[in-house]
Amino acid sequence: MDLGWDDRRTHQFVTNVGLITSKGPNGPNVMSAEWTHYVSYAPSLIVVNISSKDATAENISASKEFGVNLAAQDHNVICSIAGGNSGHDIDKIAALNDLGVEFYDGKTINVPMINGAAMNAECQVIQETPLGDHTMFVGEVQEILADEGVLPLVYHNGKYWKLGDEVAKPSQQERDKIAGLIAKHKKT
Ligand SMILES: Cc1cc2nc3c(=O)[nH]c(=O)nc-3n(C[C@H](O)[C@H](O)[C@H](O)COP(=O)(O)O)c2cc1C
Repeated sequence: MDLGWDDRRTHQFVTNVGLITSKGPNGPNVMSAEWTHYVSYAPSLIVVNISSKDATAENISASKEFGVNLAAQDHNVICSIAGGNSGHDIDKIAALNDLGVEFYDGKTINVPMINGAAMNAECQVIQETPLGDHTMFVGEVQEILADEGVLPLVYHNGKYWKLGDEVAKPSQQERDKIAGLIAKHKKT
C-alpha cells in the first residue's frame, strides 16, 4: 500500500531529527532527516533515507560523505529552516550562520558540522540504494562526538518534543513474578 507523508498512523513513530550536512554540486548544505538510524556497531553504520530530488542527496551521491548532527533540544528552529527550504535555492548554512548557529570543519570529511548538537558523526558512504520513494545512504562512522549533557530533540506526530520522565522500573515483587513466568516458559 501507499501512505501519504501526513498519514496519522505513521505519525505514531518517535524519532530523532538528524541535521544532515553535506558539500557537493549544491555547495555546503544542511537538511533535516527524521529517517536517521544507527544500524550496526562494528563496523559502526548510520543510515539516512533522503529524497533523491533533494540537494542533499545530489551532494552525497557526488561526494560520498555526509555529517550526522543529531538535533539538540533547542535546535527546533534549525530543524524547521533546514527541513523547510532546499539547498537548490537557499544557502541554508549562511542563513543559519546569520542566526548565530556555529559550524566547524569535519575532521575526516570535507563537510561542515554543527556545534552544540547532541551527537556529531562524520560518515563515509559505503552503500547507496534506491528504496521506495527515497534513497538509502549507508554511512560508516569515521569520527563521532557526543555531549551527554546535551539532550536530543524528539520528533513525533509532526511536532518537536522534549524527552519526558524516565519510566519507573517494576517493583522487586513484579520482577520476581516476571522471572518466574520466563522460567516457566523456557523452551526445552
Ligand atoms: C523534522 C523534519 C524531518 C524530515 N525528515 C526527512 C527525511 O527523513 N528524509 C527526507 O528526505 N526529507 C525529510 N524532511 C524534508 C527535508 O528536510 C526537506 O525536503 C529539505 O528541504 C531538503 O533540503 P535539501 O533540498 O537542501 O536537501 C524532513 C523535514 C523536517 C522538517
